[in-house]
Amino acid sequence: MEIDLTKIGMYKDQQYEVIITTIDNKGKSNAAPFGLRVLEDNEVFLRIFEGGTTIKNIKEKEEFIVNVTTDPLMFTLATTNTIPDEYLTRISNKTATNDELVYLTDADAYFICEVKNLKEALREDEIKSSDVNYIKSEVIELNIKNKCVKPMNRAIHALIESLVNYSRINIVDENTQKYFLERFLESERVIKRVGNEKEKESIQILKEDLINQGFEI
Ligand SMILES: Cc1cc2nc3c(=O)[nH]c(=O)nc-3n(C[C@H](O)[C@H](O)[C@H](O)COP(=O)(O)O)c2cc1C
Repeated sequence: MEIDLTKIGMYKDQQYEVIITTIDNKGKSNAAPFGLRVLEDNEVFLRIFEGGTTIKNIKEKEEFIVNVTTDPLMFTLATTNTIPDEYLTRISNKTATNDELVYLTDADAYFICEVKNLKEALREDEIKSSDVNYIKSEVIELNIKNKCVKPMNRAIHALIESLVNYSRINIVDENTQKYFLERFLESERVIKRVGNEKEKESIQILKEDLINQGFEI
């Protein structure tokens, strides 16, 4: 089967939030959430800060699994490092090194990735400087478990929150209006960074409407 991430609603140049599952050299599994950018139908990009278990395991094994899910509990347990083993399924990777791999049992889809290029760099910002890894990987196997699979994207959530606040902005007090406008700007930042064309157009429509109503943003 030809690998094509558009089959699971993941498109070129878009970013999605996924859960990456890895295994270390001793066989211990790990799961954590990351933003993943699609470069081609079968190529993805990750930016992972140094210091965590996922990046250590990816460097050791040069392969990992990307799980596509919208399950809030899975994202939470993966973030707090508390996904119990019974939520994970181990498989042997027939396509490459024959190593064991692990995926989230209830993921709507998962795909096996092989690292093609890993670059380390020092990233400096106003708060601190940190080592960051830029990882380009090829998707070598795609498994679709739920035909209705939909990848998680931050932009739609930011947009819906903005719409709710927009619908209330003329019935709240001045302090709450100020708070809504600050949140609006943060949502706009997220949508510009990870949103699709419709989400970007939507936030622009809202912004122009708010300006026309006399709000300063
Ligand atoms: C939705 C979401 C997206 C994230 N995306 C990234 C990312 O793209 N790069 C990164 O370095 N950390 C990201 N993080 C933070 C890592 O998940 C976090 O550092 C985690 O503790 C790493 O776990 P690990 O040590 O098990 O690898 C994200 C967190 C969340 C909740």
